[in-house]
Amino acid sequence: MISLIPFLGKEDDMLMSDEKILIIKDLTVNYPVDGNIIRAVDKVSLFLNSGEVLGLVGESGCGKSTLGFAILRLLKGGKIEEGNIFFKGNNLLKMSEKEMQKIRGSEMSMIFQASQNALNPLQKVSDHFIDTLKFHKKWNETTWTEIMQLIDQLEIPKSRLNDHPFQFSGGMQQRIVIALTLILKPELIIADEPTTALDVLVQARTLEILKELIKDLNLTVIYITHDLSVVSNIAHRVAIMYAGQIVEISDTSIIFKKPAHPYTKALISAIPDVKDKEKKNLAFIPGHPPDMRNLPEGCRFAERCPYAISICEKTVLKDVHLTSTSKSGHLIKCLMYQEEYSHLFNNFSDKYEP
Ligand SMILES: Nc1ncnc2c1ncn2[C@@H]1O[C@H](COP(=O)(O)OP(=O)(O)OP(=O)(O)O)[C@@H](O)[C@H]1O
Ligand SMILES: [Mg+2]
Repeated sequence: MISLIPFLGKEDDMLMSDEKILIIKDLTVNYPVDGNIIRAVDKVSLFLNSGEVLGLVGESGCGKSTLGFAILRLLKGGKIEEGNIFFKGNNLLKMSEKEMQKIRGSEMSMIFQASQNALNPLQKVSDHFIDTLKFHKKWNETTWTEIMQLIDQLEIPKSRLNDHPFQFSGGMQQRIVIALTLILKPELIIADEPTTALDVLVQARTLEILKELIKDLNLTVIYITHDLSVVSNIAHRVAIMYAGQIVEISDTSIIFKKPAHPYTKALISAIPDVKDKEKKNLAFIPGHPPDMRNLPEGCRFAERCPYAISICEKTVLKDVHLTSTSKSGHLIKCLMYQEEYSHLFNNFSDKYEP
């Protein structure tokens, strides 16, 4: 039973329930590059309830895709150094590759960044469905009616199933990829920037369709994006990632209405507002994420943080659970909220008070 996992401390027990489909604890992933180590994911812990959508948001290079690949054990060139990943109570890191192959695709799946490129240009769309189902030994269980229903829901014209992928627009190709992922009926989907390459209107419609499908099929989803505004309408909770670490995680409404981490605040004020011309000018966060080969001991955002004081970069951070109205918790990695240091930040008038 999941609740008997021995390494979880008291605080984690508060967040435990039998509904949790995925539990990641202290996951660390390294890439060796030119004699250096890039710690792309650094002691990341999170959980997903069954049927929940978690938005995973952060700037380019912060480790979002690496975390997704690690969950499916599909890392290329990277190594899981530490941690555990429990899927439906089983530790994925203790499974053989053969066992993982059974789970991949049919129980958990990933919609890859720019995955429409993975469609075979020489093969008809209908054959993609047949091959996918045959490969996963689900051809006998899945009927054409089910395929047609899914295609209908994704608004892919049935009359064009004998066309080749290159005859479709980018948005339609992406929907074909989504259909090919969902036809295997996985419970957990890691959607890595599934709509980023699409134009705004197509993106909005695809998101709407995805949202309906997630509800209808009771999918559990990690929705990866660099664009915080994208997850506002689809995610139940949001995890904000910065330079390999989760720096804040809570309910979507709390992240948008009462963000606590200075980086989350900056991301929210960087969302362009077409109605507010002044806000348009704030549409970027000054500075750059740190060099992943040479990270400070303390806060990685300190260099760009308007609230930072001299000790921020040098002091190792602890995760703080903020007492908030959220049942699922509000976790933050920032010195300002650590009891022993919080008095040093009292002069900030907009400091978060739970
Ligand atoms: N195969 C690899 N070999 C070496 N370094 C890698 C590899 N893949 C990723 N990295 C590095 O790991 C860090 C995290 O990369 P990752 O692709 O996970 O970020 P991301 O948040 O998904 O970025 P993006 O939004 O651009 O997709 C980056 O510093 C990246 O350069
Ligand atoms: Mg990525």
